[in-house]
Amino acid sequence: MVAQSYARLMTLEEFIIQGQNHFKGATGDLSQLLRDIALAAKIISNEVNKAGITNLLGLDGSVNVQGEAVKRLDLFSNDQMIHALSRSGNVCMIVSEENDKPVRTRSSSGKYVVAMDPLDGSSNIDVNVSIGTIFSVFARKSDRADEPNDYDIHQLGTEQIAAGYVLYGSSTTLVYTTGLGVSAFTLDPGLGEFFLSERSIKMPRFGPTYSLNEGHIGQCSPAVQSYLRKCKTPDSFSGKPYNCRYIGSMVSDIHRTLLDGGIFMYPDTQRLPDGKLRLMYECYPMAFIIEQAGGIAVDKNKTRILEIPVRDIHQRSSIFMGSDQNMRDLISMM
Ligand code: AHG
Ligand code: MN
Ligand code: MN
Repeated sequence: MVAQSYARLMTLEEFIIQGQNHFKGATGDLSQLLRDIALAAKIISNEVNKAGITNLLGLDGSVNVQGEAVKRLDLFSNDQMIHALSRSGNVCMIVSEENDKPVRTRSSSGKYVVAMDPLDGSSNIDVNVSIGTIFSVFARKSDRADEPNDYDIHQLGTEQIAAGYVLYGSSTTLVYTTGLGVSAFTLDPGLGEFFLSERSIKMPRFGPTYSLNEGHIGQCSPAVQSYLRKCKTPDSFSGKPYNCRYIGSMVSDIHRTLLDGGIFMYPDTQRLPDGKLRLMYECYPMAFIIEQAGGIAVDKNKTRILEIPVRDIHQRSSIFMGSDQNMRDLISMM
């Protein structure tokens, strides 16, 4: 029976090839890049689970398991992603949350630039809560015969050619878009294969769920505070208020919002006037995915996230994203 069920499933590899055939003149280079990211995802997934086991053993990890494990996993994931992205020679530069400056790969002629958060939500690993990896892919602007430069990095979110995330949760799930809709793949760890689990994901137009760190609400704008009061007021139709769900790993909170609908926000506060999340490797890729699934993503000025220009590779942005209806309700109050 099990063998028969695999026969019906599409592998990530088959899906990538199918997508590649959709783009006339495709060279297969983006396909190879996605394959390389999937390889890194398998390696990181394997390590993330082992980190949990180390926690349990508690021998050498018990002293600084939180600091070392978190740092270890951030840096481990960063190394794995940089190695994976450097394999094909198609990536000339990498912007990573873990590196102050852009990382140059061995191949200055590579046609892609990648921005990434190698391990998102890493403060959650020591309590075994799901975490992730986030990536965004741009085509370089400069001539491939020249050295890559800042113009290759300072591109708008609308110019992304692919974006995605890996969620290391109860299962390891890879979600990505190349602009033709959003699809999700689940890793079968026994086979080491990602299988298509959701094709062309479309967000529910509304969801009675809001997601933010409410501890900061006292520092948020009056608009956000009044929106939250509205969410907590029993709805005249259902008689119920919204649910609050907040995992503290953006990848997990966005994955739930993508599938179940609702709204996620990391607002600007008095302490963080531009919020906490980074534009290039958290907001841009997640906004691309949310828009591809029919949702909306804006900042505190109601500016479309994908149209906020990059000034600095680690610049932060306030972010409000989610289902169409939820977002229109909030925007009408901003
Ligand atoms: P990272 O671990 O890559 O620094 O990202 C953590 C981010 C994001 O995943 C999450 O939404 C947010 O931090 C949670 O922040 P708070 O703990 O301030 O709520
Ligand atoms: Mn992050
Ligand atoms: Mn991170």
